[in-house]
Amino acid sequence: MRKKKIDKMPARLDFLQSTTGLILAVFIMGHLLFEASILVSDEMMYRVTLMFEGYYFFGERYPGIVSFLAAAIGTIFVLHAGLAVRKFPASYREYKTITEHTKRMKHEDSSLWMIQVITGFMMFFIGSVHLYIMFSQPENIGPFASSYRVVDELMGPLYFMLLISVVSHAFIGLYRLAMKWGFMEGEDTKKSRTMFKFLMKSMIALYIIVGLSSLARYTYIGMHHDLSDGKRYESKTVQAGEH
Ligand code: HEM
Repeated sequence: MRKKKIDKMPARLDFLQSTTGLILAVFIMGHLLFEASILVSDEMMYRVTLMFEGYYFFGERYPGIVSFLAAAIGTIFVLHAGLAVRKFPASYREYKTITEHTKRMKHEDSSLWMIQVITGFMMFFIGSVHLYIMFSQPENIGPFASSYRVVDELMGPLYFMLLISVVSHAFIGLYRLAMKWGFMEGEDTKKSRTMFKFLMKSMIALYIIVGLSSLARYTYIGMHHDLSDGKRYESKTVQAGEH
């Protein structure tokens, strides 16, 4: 009897979705911390910006490096979203079945999955706008340039929605990854699952607090300086140009 060939494609796509998700989650954890450098001081954020422009490596600013990074992250972002679309409920009937199952079973992991779908959908639009701006205007990043964008260019409300959705999405995603790849299969599965869930919720709360604080700081700077004439931050210690 001839053996039936197993289709390995779904497993491969699943693996690719997990890997791209992991890369994006690690990226966003670093991103929000680097960007929170504004909470230390304007000068600190200025120096972090210079670092990403390669100033400390080449002795000159190359904003193109930021564009390259945005294009690379954008490509992974689109790939991850494309792979995820396979698992969205395809019809109202499918959606109803899932929500009824979640309600009836009080199944928290199904609710988490639903949150993933909704936040993922939100990010698809908001994240794309942000990524494109970072790609096309990499020289307009800095304590004053970023604050100008948040206040005068009205990116604040968009960042607020993006922050809530990306932080929830990333940490719920990491929790589901840990579950999927067997990190919760210790001696007491129930206990380790509770522990991972606690860790996930703590990280979501922590990152939202940090992100909101940074956003508040950019808003404060934007509102307390007149940046409308293109005024940029000028460091008194590093002479590498304005930001
Ligand atoms: C390489 C690509 C990226 C770069 C260079 C970048 C850079 C920045 C910068 C400089 C800010 C500060 C505000 C501003 O200047 O407009 C910011 C804010 C933000 N970015 Fe990104 N970003 C990138 C990708 C992403 C992605 C993929 C996401 C999520 C999908 C994201 C989510 C956010 C959020 C939520 C904020 C507001 C943070 C807060 O509330 O504190 N970024 N980003």
